Amino acid sequence: MSNEKKYKVGIVGATGLVGQELITLLTEREFPIENVRLAASKNSIGEDFQCMGKTYQVEILSTDFFENLDLCFFCASPKISEEYAAIALDRGCFVIDKNVIDGQEYRSVVVPEVNIEDLHSMSSKYVRNPSSITIPLALVLSLLAPVYRPKRVFASSYQSVSAEGQRGIEELTSQVGAMFSYQETQSKVFPQRIAFNLIPNVGGLGPEGFSYEEKRVEEELQQVLHRPDLHSHFHLTYVPTFIGSGISLSVECERAIDVEEVRALLCDSKTVKVIDSPGKGAYPVLLDVQGQDEVFVGRIRTKTEDPKVLDLWIVNDNLKRGGALNFVQLAENFISKG
Ligand SMILES: NC(=O)c1ccc[n+]([C@@H]2O[C@H](COP(=O)([O-])OP(=O)(O)OC[C@H]3O[C@@H](n4cnc5c(N)ncnc54)[C@H](OP(=O)(O)O)[C@@H]3O)[C@@H](O)[C@H]2O)c1
Repeated sequence: MSNEKKYKVGIVGATGLVGQELITLLTEREFPIENVRLAASKNSIGEDFQCMGKTYQVEILSTDFFENLDLCFFCASPKISEEYAAIALDRGCFVIDKNVIDGQEYRSVVVPEVNIEDLHSMSSKYVRNPSSITIPLALVLSLLAPVYRPKRVFASSYQSVSAEGQRGIEELTSQVGAMFSYQETQSKVFPQRIAFNLIPNVGGLGPEGFSYEEKRVEEELQQVLHRPDLHSHFHLTYVPTFIGSGISLSVECERAIDVEEVRALLCDSKTVKVIDSPGKGAYPVLLDVQGQDEVFVGRIRTKTEDPKVLDLWIVNDNLKRGGALNFVQLAENFISKG
């Protein structure tokens, strides 16, 4: 990276799945770091982690943590963001948050490949990493938008247990172990047993029947795509896999779909990898995407009876492409602003 200045960086939630992926990516992409501070819960105090060839110890989170930091990633719970993000801002940090907190700008949600202008025009130093489902949807829809102008979006997600962090992975692992030993299972993270099950409730259900996460994704897509008129119908579901999210997407567009043109539009983008040969049964699956930067797309099709509706299948690594990579790209863009 050409920028000579080096930055003091904080990571809140450094020991979590997203925090660990973030540390790896900062190192791999040679983010210009002078010093890193890592915070986690009291269970992790004193643990060592390597970042850019140096060893750092995990600290307990307090208001002092933000002293002299240039930028801080928040990848712990919404409660931690509510309590500390405003303090970090007061101390002059640029804050990149995984969670939704009250009182921030409407256009604070950014996917760099789609709406980076919103980061540059912001009056505050607070930016939000969207949900791990919004990111792949925004990337794909933004490529289709100039040619097809989507009118309505219908999508169902198949989300791995890592969407609930390390605890989600541990719960599935222990439930599978218990079931193979004919023991009782316990559910603390998910509302029901996730092992050998599907749970159509991501983020809790509201009184109207929608989940809070479904509403969040709809609002984030409208913001990122600058399409407040874009209506979406989501059905988000947890599945008993460990890493990666699948999304079946149907988009009603203003123009009739030309499948070859859609393939070409997606293939031209560096952010999307198309695996789609219907005759040969080629399509992307979760096993293709772990550790990958791209969003994978396949099963691209339309029906002659409904020529303006495009159907396709998306998969991506929820921790990397749907989480940590967006975090790091936001930080890279922030420092390039100067
Ligand atoms: N993973 C995804 O795909 C995804 C998608 C959407 C949203 N999110 C959200 O992003 C956040 C992080 O996700 P994750 O997958 O990395 O979760 P995770 O694996 O559960 O990690 C949570 C992190 O928060 C830390 N933490 C807990 N209590 C703390 C405290 N009092 N002070 C400071 N740090 C504390 C944990 O530290 P310890 O290790 O010491 O407990 C850990 O580092 C969560 O809010 C999650 O809901 C994640």
